[in-house]
Parts: sequence; C-alpha cells; structure tokens
Amino acid sequence: MSTILVTGGAGFIGSHTTEALLDRGDDVVCLDNFDDYYSPQRKRANIAPLMGRPGYVLVEGDIRDQDALEALFQAHRPARIVHTAAMAGVRYSIQHPGLYESVNVRGTLDVLEMARRYDVENVVFASTSSIYGARQQVPFREDDRVDWPVSPYAATKRACELLAYTYHHLHGLNFTALRFFTVYGPRGRPDMAPYLFTEAVFRGTELKMFGDGSSSRDYTYIDDVVQGIVAAIDRSLGYEIINLGNSRTVLLRDFIALVEDLVGRKANVVQHPMPPGDVPRTCADISRAQRLLGYDPQTSFEEGMARFVDWYRTVVVAPGQECAGR
Ligand SMILES: NC(=O)c1ccc[n+]([C@@H]2O[C@H](COP(=O)([O-])OP(=O)(O)OC[C@H]3O[C@@H](n4cnc5c(N)ncnc54)[C@H](O)[C@@H]3O)[C@@H](O)[C@H]2O)c1
Repeated sequence: MSTILVTGGAGFIGSHTTEALLDRGDDVVCLDNFDDYYSPQRKRANIAPLMGRPGYVLVEGDIRDQDALEALFQAHRPARIVHTAAMAGVRYSIQHPGLYESVNVRGTLDVLEMARRYDVENVVFASTSSIYGARQQVPFREDDRVDWPVSPYAATKRACELLAYTYHHLHGLNFTALRFFTVYGPRGRPDMAPYLFTEAVFRGTELKMFGDGSSSRDYTYIDDVVQGIVAAIDRSLGYEIINLGNSRTVLLRDFIALVEDLVGRKANVVQHPMPPGDVPRTCADISRAQRLLGYDPQTSFEEGMARFVDWYRTVVVAPGQECAGR
C-alpha cells in the first residue's frame, strides 16, 4: 500500500481511477480545483461516494498553486502520481489557448517539479490521441511522427510529453504518457459526443452531426482505460508513451443509430461543417499497451454505450424530472 496523488481526481477519468485504487487498498490524495469548464456540481457528485472512505483525502486546489502543492507533498508524501488534471476540450482550446497553455503546460511542469523534488517513483500522465493530428493513416502508433497538432489542446499535451522526457533524461524520473482514445462511460464529460448525443435524443433536441457522418473514432470504455492506468502506475518503465484505445473504429452515423436504438427514439439530426481542430478519424495500435501493461480492453462499444445510456437514464434523467443541465 502506498499513497498515490491523483490530480484532477474529481473529473471523469480521475474519479474512476481513484475508486479503483481505493478498492485495491491504496491511499489516494485527490487534488482538484473544481473548475467550471463544466458544472463543478457534477464533479462533487463524482466524488460523493468516495468521501469518508478509508484512505481517501480530498485537497481542493490548483496544480499551478505552488504553495498548495508544497503543503500537499509535505503532508502526504505521495509515492506515485496519476496526473489527469487539465483543460480537456479540443474545441474550447481554440478560443482559450492561453488558459490551456497555463493549466496544461505550466501546471504539468509544476507537477513534474514536485515529482523531482520529492523523489516520486512514477508519474502516469493523461495524454491524448489528439496528438496524432489529422492523419488518415491508421492505426496510430506511438512512434509515428506527431509534429502537426491541429488544436492548442493537442499541442499543449505534446508539450507535456516533451517536458517530461527532459525530466526523465535529467533526473531519472519514471514517466508514462498514456494516450487515451475518446474515453466514455458513466459520469462521462458533458461536452463529449456520447453525452451530447444521448442528451439530444432523450430531449428530442437537435443532434449536431459534424460532417456527413463518415468520420470515425476509436472509443474506449472507462473501465478498460482504468485497467491500463492502474497497470501503468504499478510499473516504473523509464520513459514510455503508450496508446490506450479499443482498436476498433466506429463511424459517426453508426454511433448515432446505436444511440437511437438504446434510447428508443429517432434523433433530430442536423448536419454541420466539421469544426476546425477536430480530426477525421482515430484508431489505436494497442500492441505496446498489451506488451508493457497486459492491457486487454474487454468492452465493446455496443455494451459500453448501453451502460452509459442506463447511467444517463437513472442518474441524469432522474425519475419525473427534466434532464439536468450541465
Ligand atoms: N475523456 C477523454 O476522452 C480523454 C481523452 C484523451 C485525454 N484525456 C485527458 O484525460 C484527463 C482527464 O479527462 P476527463 O475527461 O476526466 O476530464 P475532466 O474535465 O472530467 O477532468 C479533469 C479534472 O481536472 C480538474 N482540473 C482542471 N484544471 C485544474 C487545475 N488547474 N488544477 C487542479 N485540477 C484541475 C477539473 O476540475 C476536472 O475535475 C485530461 O487530462 C484529458 O486531457 C481525456
């Protein structure tokens, strides 16, 4: 048993990761600033079942607040870090590049610096498939060139991978960047397609389809991603970059049809041009994750979306209520 710091631990991926770590007996310190990119109440709801669990500590604070970080490390001395805190939306980054630079790059630098100063054994970082840019050639492999990010979000995440390499080179820091491929599941972010589509079909409001429906994504179910994160935090691998995807692409138009089936209603689909910064397709080569982490995603998109829609029906659309806002 050891103490693990989960930054962004009240978010979608961070809260599921925390739960898995607590379940197996780790102590977890969650650091989150409950920013309002989406409703902070949702984040409070994410961690409500964790509050009071043995081994769980919540620290409300910003990864860029060096005094807060210092106090946290002094008090809890985390041996390992799962760093998920970030500004995460691709489209929002185009309007707010400075915010993304500040939180994602500066904030990650501050976390790396604490890891160096407090001899942290291992850092696992939430990177992204967006780093691969608008390439058509699939599957995406970790040693593909990634010099053409098409959003500030992607560029800042790549900058973090590079900064971390420097910390590995200079200070011997163990660092694994996990490039997540569109993660979905219960408690999923309300700015992402699984949530937006489900919400639109439930409410009978416009479902915005960007492009002609032929774009495709590799969607990864949250439990599979958490399995990969937990495996990565248990292995000090030097410096590694590892894809965590499902390795199966889903066409946008098939995705919409699946949501219609699961909700039991037709969608009011309105076509819009592809937003700049979005990529046409993603698909992960997961052989490195299989080899280094024993990663083995189990959840088909159909099964995962059925669980997501069940969660949405029971938690978001509470009986007798309208859908909750963001
Ligand atoms: N969800 C996905 O499909 C996906 C895909 C690729 C990468 N990622 C990455 O995974 C990570 C988690 O994503 P998520 O979907 O759970 O997002 P999320 O927004 O639900 O979680 C991020 C959390 O970080 C917190 N946070 C933001 N700025 C902070 C700061 N300055 N200090 C402390 N806490 C801060 C937020 O309050 C939030 O709770 C992010 O780094 C994201 O870029 C997510």
